[in-house]
Amino acid sequence: MFSKLVSAALLTVLAGRALAFDSFNVTLGTTVFQATEVLAFTSTPVIVGCAPQCQLAQANITACATNDPTCLCAPATTGPLLTCEQCLFTALIAANQPAPDPRAGSNPAVTGWTLNCATLKQPLATPMALTLPDSWDGPFVSVFPTAIGWVIAVTGGVLGSSLIYMLCNM
Ligand SMILES: *[C@@H]1O[C@H](CO)[C@@H](O)[C@H](O)[C@H]1NC(C)=O
Ligand SMILES: *[C@@H]1O[C@H](CO)[C@@H](O)[C@H](O)[C@H]1NC(C)=O
Repeated sequence: MFSKLVSAALLTVLAGRALAFDSFNVTLGTTVFQATEVLAFTSTPVIVGCAPQCQLAQANITACATNDPTCLCAPATTGPLLTCEQCLFTALIAANQPAPDPRAGSNPAVTGWTLNCATLKQPLATPMALTLPDSWDGPFVSVFPTAIGWVIAVTGGVLGSSLIYMLCNM
């Protein structure tokens, strides 16, 4: 029995060796996250409701051989990943809270994943992107740090005023 276990373990190691894939990672800001790290952030009360979806997504990512793009870019993996990220995004907007982690409810994370699939010749049938929930009815600040929210608000205001100025001069 024990020897069977050992050989199974050895086979797994050897299989791991044989399947040497390029790194599969997503860069957010200046940090590079490997595939299994993309959802490995600490939950907070605001996003804890998404734990079931995110644990399923993480399980499906972990079930892939390390960095296997065919598996990581398959609908069985990207579907749960997008469901998890969309759930987080919706929860953050509903609570009007900034993301507790750059990977949580992160459009760059899903678009980065999509890009990586394309780079590794496993393009997704539908590029992943987060959508604003129906409940969204306010400024888009919840997902930005306050400073960036202000820049957007100010830029928007300047663009708006220039438009009015142009219209007045036509
Ligand atoms: C990230 O992935 C790219 C492409 O797969 C690879 O060239 C690069 O070395 C990886 N970087 C890290 C830090 O894993
Ligand atoms: C994700 O993995 C679970 C098992 O961990 C499996 O039951 C489920 O079907 C997978 N999800 C998809 C969409 O294939």
